[in-house]
Amino acid sequence: MPSTDGSGWALANSVGRNSPLHLYSGDLLKMKLPSQTAGPIPYLDLPAQMRSIRKDIDAAMARTLDHCTFCLGPDVAQFEKDFARFIGAEHCVGFNTGTSALHVALLLLNLGPGDEVITTPFTFVATSWAISYVGAKPVYVDIDDATFNLDPKLVERAITPRTKALMPVHLYGQPADMDPLLATCRKHNLPLVEDAAQAHGAKYRGRIAGTFGVMSGFSFYPGKNLGAYGEGGALITNDGAFAARARALRDHGSTQRYYHDEIGYNYRLPNINAALGCAQLEQLPDFLKAKRRLFERYEAAFTEVPHVRIVAEPEGCRSNYWLQTLLLDTSAAGQRNAILAATNDAGLMTRPAWILMHRLPRYRECPKMELPVSESLARRLINLPSSAFLIRS
Ligand SMILES: Cc1ncc(COP(=O)(O)O)c(C=O)c1O
Repeated sequence: MPSTDGSGWALANSVGRNSPLHLYSGDLLKMKLPSQTAGPIPYLDLPAQMRSIRKDIDAAMARTLDHCTFCLGPDVAQFEKDFARFIGAEHCVGFNTGTSALHVALLLLNLGPGDEVITTPFTFVATSWAISYVGAKPVYVDIDDATFNLDPKLVERAITPRTKALMPVHLYGQPADMDPLLATCRKHNLPLVEDAAQAHGAKYRGRIAGTFGVMSGFSFYPGKNLGAYGEGGALITNDGAFAARARALRDHGSTQRYYHDEIGYNYRLPNINAALGCAQLEQLPDFLKAKRRLFERYEAAFTEVPHVRIVAEPEGCRSNYWLQTLLLDTSAAGQRNAILAATNDAGLMTRPAWILMHRLPRYRECPKMELPVSESLARRLINLPSSAFLIRS
């Protein structure tokens, strides 16, 4: 376990130049992270976040316990209003999870068996689940190594008569390259649904991620930049008809009490999670600033280091830096697993990237283009400790 001595983590001293750790630790571990005391360096630090807004959280919980409207209560309505304003969209419909919001978004586009949705293999599995839930197939297209997101240059080649939508992900809070993706959609008359589950507050050319597609889905899973301390999600749209139908579908397909005109779901956002979401939304701007400061610290530490690249936002974009990452160059890729093992053994919580979607049993047979960048990045990426509370000043 690392301990601090005021000049950096003691772990740094234990790393020899010949260790696979030296690429990483010689620089990362000498960083001064003032708020860090003894103990493991966490990956994400929910207890610290909770402590920072505990009073607001207690008040939000008490509100729900007082009025006892536990499902789709007043705080859901308030959260929908506040989040729509924050995002700059007409409608926010609260859901119990980000996955269910994405599922309903694809249902609203009438997707079904035989349809294909172009998306990325470099994501959390829920992106693909939403496509599978409506009976459609994901078609995987490679990513751009600057953003880790769908490479717009490659999308057009994957379009077939079966293609019914495009679903980019703003991975780790880094916006996908929306202008060319939207241009391709316009050219082929395809709707674009954004998986914005990780993208709270990220910006692409001054506009907030999650407002580019016909619909987008956000997640408020704990640990996200805006987590609801439980499950939570939202469907965002500027289309009133989509929003109205999404409201019905999340609540058993009901447009009036006990009247159900289509098969619906119980995808309701609990009031208590919405109340906690409201409390966190207030502190989101400060939280995003802290994430950026952590990124700047990592960037400063790694700029001169051979064999690694800290992954920064492309020009005109603002990442929300939800997860901060370090990319080993190909010559150092073979050391990745040893670095992960050694850092975790030493109490520095790092993780590898996702297992690529087409490597999962369920999606092995899915149509896919060549995916060399995804394959390479998946072997070279290290997710760094990303808690906003590692740095306070
Ligand atoms: C890229 C992506 N899409 C979708 C989801 C699904 O969100 P939820 O866990 O709220 O269902 C997640 C959650 O982590 C995600 O990271």
